[in-house]
Amino acid sequence: MARCYCHWRRLLICLCTPCILLVLMFIYVTVMVSLNMTAAAGGETSVWVTKTDRVHFIASGTYTIEGLAPLPKTFWDPHPHSGALWNHLQLVIDRHYNPILSPKNTERGTINTSHESLLQQSFSTAHYWENMTEFAKLPQQMQNFASNMHKRDYPILIQPNVTCGAGAEEEEEPPLLLLAIKTTEENYENRQAIRESWGQVGWVAGRRQDSGGGRGESVGKKSGGYVRRVFLLGRTNHKEQGAYTELLQQESQRYGDILQWDFTDSFFNLTLKDVLFWGWFSHHCDRTHFIFKGDDDIFVNIPAMIDYLQDQLQKPKAHKAMRDFMVGDVIGAAQPIREYKSKYFVPASFYKGFYPAYAGGGGVVYSGLLTKRLNIISKSIHLFPIDDVYVGMCMIRLKAYPIHNPAFLTFDFPGKEESKPCAYHTILLVHKRIPSQIVTLWARLKDTKTQCLNVTLRNKTNKHKNRNIAPKKS
Ligand SMILES: *[C@@H]1O[C@H](CO)[C@@H](O)[C@H](O)[C@H]1NC(C)=O
Ligand SMILES: *[C@@H]1O[C@H](CO)[C@@H](O)[C@H](O)[C@H]1NC(C)=O
Ligand SMILES: *[C@@H]1O[C@H](CO)[C@@H](O)[C@H](O)[C@H]1NC(C)=O
Ligand SMILES: *[C@@H]1O[C@H](CO)[C@@H](O)[C@H](O)[C@H]1NC(C)=O
Repeated sequence: MARCYCHWRRLLICLCTPCILLVLMFIYVTVMVSLNMTAAAGGETSVWVTKTDRVHFIASGTYTIEGLAPLPKTFWDPHPHSGALWNHLQLVIDRHYNPILSPKNTERGTINTSHESLLQQSFSTAHYWENMTEFAKLPQQMQNFASNMHKRDYPILIQPNVTCGAGAEEEEEPPLLLLAIKTTEENYENRQAIRESWGQVGWVAGRRQDSGGGRGESVGKKSGGYVRRVFLLGRTNHKEQGAYTELLQQESQRYGDILQWDFTDSFFNLTLKDVLFWGWFSHHCDRTHFIFKGDDDIFVNIPAMIDYLQDQLQKPKAHKAMRDFMVGDVIGAAQPIREYKSKYFVPASFYKGFYPAYAGGGGVVYSGLLTKRLNIISKSIHLFPIDDVYVGMCMIRLKAYPIHNPAFLTFDFPGKEESKPCAYHTILLVHKRIPSQIVTLWARLKDTKTQCLNVTLRNKTNKHKNRNIAPKKS
């Protein structure tokens, strides 16, 4: 009898102990989850959150530590956007294309015109931001951006006669490079300096005068390629509106390189130039190998650029590499600038998280193939006020990564490097130079050509002290 009792007791202990432990664990987890949700819904993050918000369990939530970039909070963060408007809007779309949540939406290569309606839908879920006290606290231009960010179908005011920018009519083979330069109506001098110096169109020679020497592939043919040019503009609001329009029309007739859209040219509207340019390019520019996209205050060593790009095309599997090809001064793991007075100020109520790796916008080169892919993917990504960062956001969603090249000096020469006689032969690009400097530098580049024939492109990485934050342009 005693033995039997003992047996049952052991059995009970064996069975029940795990059960009790499991129940305790379940209670613990439940309490933690609900505590977490109330904290998230009731704390400072409630700014953009309404009661109608449904709870979603998604990883990669963020929260702010003063001064530092946000860190993932918990695995089950119910509000991964943490009250930031852009993240909140984009979340709807990223979920739609999440390969785990909705595998059938993610088949690459299928172009779905419902992209755009998806963008609009995400706005309707976020109509409440206009009322927020937070919104009124944003700087004026941020408010302006946020209330216009759903618009991107601005009509073209002026465009080149010929298919794809100045220079297109003279070509005998597919163009190597299209220069797409962001400028503004009043920067006539900058445009003129570029036209007269590094921005000349037609057939342009590379640095290697005779690519027969040592290369083999194209014996007897001079290195070079066809170059086209187009300037990207919005409208500037002047007192004498008509005067500038007239001048620009004349400029367009003379040079055929003006592409202007009907939106206000402002810093936060620069992203529109990228997006609209990709659309225009996809319609008008066939078979262009590369795009150089840059500002109107840079100097480009075009002969070296041409050789560099020809080399890319000669590489094995070049066609495959071109799908993702983008090169520039790459800035990784940058954080949004939270200083109110900065030109780059992006408040936490608008965007949270790191920026994706992006190429500094002073000047960057990418392939025509990638441009067409960027055009499609950009239809499912909300506009972001900083243009370079927006391009980075498109890139990570294409699973493409920009290549860093130390010859792109978007932060100028480090130290005394510039004073060396062949300094400008070692670079592909330098930012920033005024029009008169651009013209002088171009002349000097030609004068020192034989003297500096054997210098190679610089390959030391610039030590940016401020690598961790967005670039300061001016
Ligand atoms: C595009 O999306 C719509 C609505 O989401 C869907 O009905 C349609 O089948 C999709 N088309 C393609 C080609 O995937
Ligand atoms: C906006 O605020 C006003 C007054 O504070 C309120 O009456 C209105 O319902 C609010 N609208 C939304 C969409 O929250
Ligand atoms: C563009 O077309 C207009 C009118 O057709 C003409 O006057 C102008 O010269 C052309 N411009 C160029 C650069 O070909
Ligand atoms: C961008 O351009 C549009 C159209 O002109 C304008 O309404 C909007 O205010 C501009 N946005 C910014 C941030 O300047």
